[in-house]
Amino acid sequence: ILTNLKHECATPLPLLQQVAKAMSDDMRAGLGLGPGSELGLPMIPTYVENLPTGNEKGLFYALDLGGTNFRVLRVQLGGKDERVIATEFDQVSIPQDLMFATSQELFDFIASGLAKFASKEDGRFHISKGRKREIGFTFSFPVKQTSIDSGILIKWTKGFAVSGTAGRDVVACLNEAMERQRIDMRVSALVNDTVGTLAGAEYWDNDVVAAVILGTGTNACYVEQISAIPKLQGYASSSGKMIISTEWGAFSNSLPLTEFDREMDAASINPGEQIFEKTISGMYLGEIVRRVLLKMTEEGGLFGKSVPQELSTPFILGTPDLCTMQQDCSGDLHAVGSLLYDIAGVESNLSERKTVLEVCETIVKRGGSLAGAGIVGILEKMEEDQRGLIFGNGNRSVVAIDGGLYENYPQYRAYLQSSVKELLGIEKSKNVVIEHTKDGSGIGASLLAASNSIYKQNL
Ligand code: BG6
Ligand code: GLC
Repeated sequence: ILTNLKHECATPLPLLQQVAKAMSDDMRAGLGLGPGSELGLPMIPTYVENLPTGNEKGLFYALDLGGTNFRVLRVQLGGKDERVIATEFDQVSIPQDLMFATSQELFDFIASGLAKFASKEDGRFHISKGRKREIGFTFSFPVKQTSIDSGILIKWTKGFAVSGTAGRDVVACLNEAMERQRIDMRVSALVNDTVGTLAGAEYWDNDVVAAVILGTGTNACYVEQISAIPKLQGYASSSGKMIISTEWGAFSNSLPLTEFDREMDAASINPGEQIFEKTISGMYLGEIVRRVLLKMTEEGGLFGKSVPQELSTPFILGTPDLCTMQQDCSGDLHAVGSLLYDIAGVESNLSERKTVLEVCETIVKRGGSLAGAGIVGILEKMEEDQRGLIFGNGNRSVVAIDGGLYENYPQYRAYLQSSVKELLGIEKSKNVVIEHTKDGSGIGASLLAASNSIYKQNL
């Protein structure tokens, strides 16, 4: 089983090249109009046409829904010289039952978190007279934006199955909840987490060209030329550019998939969807490994004769557990043994622990390497359209990455980086910087709230 798994999950250079090329092709198809475009990536126009300049001033709030935690943040922006004068945030993990609640329950949860946080605003934060507090709302799901401050939820991803939100404007849902809580604020920017991350990273570093989230789910966004977006034909843009949220989690071309991936997908609440996300992101890596270990136990006698009940429980093994095991450098793999005992209720010997680590390594290597290929696909697409933009002489092109998986899993990070290097080769690699941007999307969303403020002309 292990030999087969390694074979099927292998990511040799030609395969990674094929994935990168398929990513570029699917991006192009998704930007198109008419027949064929539905076969491409969603490529969602975000209506973010200008990135923060550094001149943004005032008090802004941000809400961040879609990762493991729900965050609320406030920031006092001081313009060119002072930049971020004060910032403060609060976070709570999203209760599991809320993921299956009604739309009203979910948005009431968000609004009451906001109300509680806003009531603790202290003297470091202040707002000019007559202004409402404005919010940058990071909503990390596929949304069909109709403007910078409105957008319709296309569908839930990452295990969310809240009823009554799909097809609705999520800003309207939030406004209704804020009214119920008597919160007098207004949403001036609705952004995806990748977009918040790009804006937040670009605030400090003008060379940022794309942003990627590798956490519970995954997605990437980048700055596109309006002229290269046929589906926005005729749109009058202020800058000639727009950030596109690729929703690359939906990508599925050329991926090296196994029976374990197919079975996990079939058992998921969104079968046939988000295949790239299910292969490379934090919500799923642990579950793929669990499925492999279960088969090895049932058919190969791993851990002895009986099959522990726990190992049959979906999602019992999390990606953070794989990470903990992979950090074990002890001779007897003690941490691997105790984690297997605590989580799966199995006693293991050294050779079984080594086998478990090989499974983790195989799945994590595949995930990190494919994520790297996706990034190269985006960079190559940008370069193809504008020669020299990314790999031109002396250029520095920064890809900002955030999310728990990238942040906390050193092996995953290393595989991603080496896949990018291998694909680009020595010369092109010199231009590309992969940077970790921690929690940039909160600040990014508030910056976009500032640049889209209804009061901005008075600043
Ligand atoms: C955070 C960003 O740092 O990473 C969020 O601020 C993003 O906007 C998140 O959704 C991803 O989080 P997680 O919990 O899925 O790793
Ligand atoms: C999922 C969402 C996407 C989000 C990503 C990372 O793929 O569909 O919108 O950006 O997760 O959080």
